[in-house]
Amino acid sequence: MKVDILTIFPEFFGQVIEFGIIRRARLAEIVEINVHDIRKFTTDKHRMVDDRPFGGGDGMVLKPEPIFAAIESLLGTSEKENYPSGSRVVLLTPQGRQLKQSVAKELADEINHLVIICGRYEGIDERVNETLVTDEISIGDYVLSGGEPAAVALVDSIVRLLPGALGSETSAENDSFSSGILDHPHYTRPAEFRGMKVPDVLLNGNHAEIEKWRAKKALEKTRIFRRDLLEGDNGDM
Ligand code: 6GU
Repeated sequence: MKVDILTIFPEFFGQVIEFGIIRRARLAEIVEINVHDIRKFTTDKHRMVDDRPFGGGDGMVLKPEPIFAAIESLLGTSEKENYPSGSRVVLLTPQGRQLKQSVAKELADEINHLVIICGRYEGIDERVNETLVTDEISIGDYVLSGGEPAAVALVDSIVRLLPGALGSETSAENDSFSSGILDHPHYTRPAEFRGMKVPDVLLNGNHAEIEKWRAKKALEKTRIFRRDLLEGDNGDM
């Protein structure tokens, strides 16, 4: 998969894509990630990426011209109807549909070229949404100053689902949320630490019993912390 990130803060991504699963996947050429400075696509003397909102109000709005130019250079057109198949342009915005495991899975399965536009909290010219953007995504109901942290979350959630990105092909399937509920508790050595003991069932080597215990604990945790996941249609999975 090829990922192109459009941002006014390219330095933000410097170290983030150099660690862990994302780094491994990049080295294995499972994913190629390119970060582009929107300012590089400006043509005016002052290299302006934002401007005051028509109609008045606080904050600055991202200008359309450099973003259109960036998309044209990456996808060959600025009309979403004409994008190459397997390409999507995602705008990260608090107005988008919420990122869920099911959304990450859909993108991991269906897409080979993902272009991400990092919005600013104050806004982006609506003609970008109308003409260029195929998907508007938010990572939750809280305010971020910009889409950059959301882009990291989105890319990580997708990359770890790409075939070969994780050590074992099955590990993503055992993740919390892949089954629609929370994960079970985990323990490692020592078996007793400051008087706190690891549950006996995990030490006795009975794998059927261990699986039963884990399923029970996962359900218990979900009931307590994320009851909504058990109550029918919550938009996930
Ligand atoms: Cl994608 N952007 C911003 N600015 N705030 C957010 C968000 C995105 N998702 C949740 N809050």
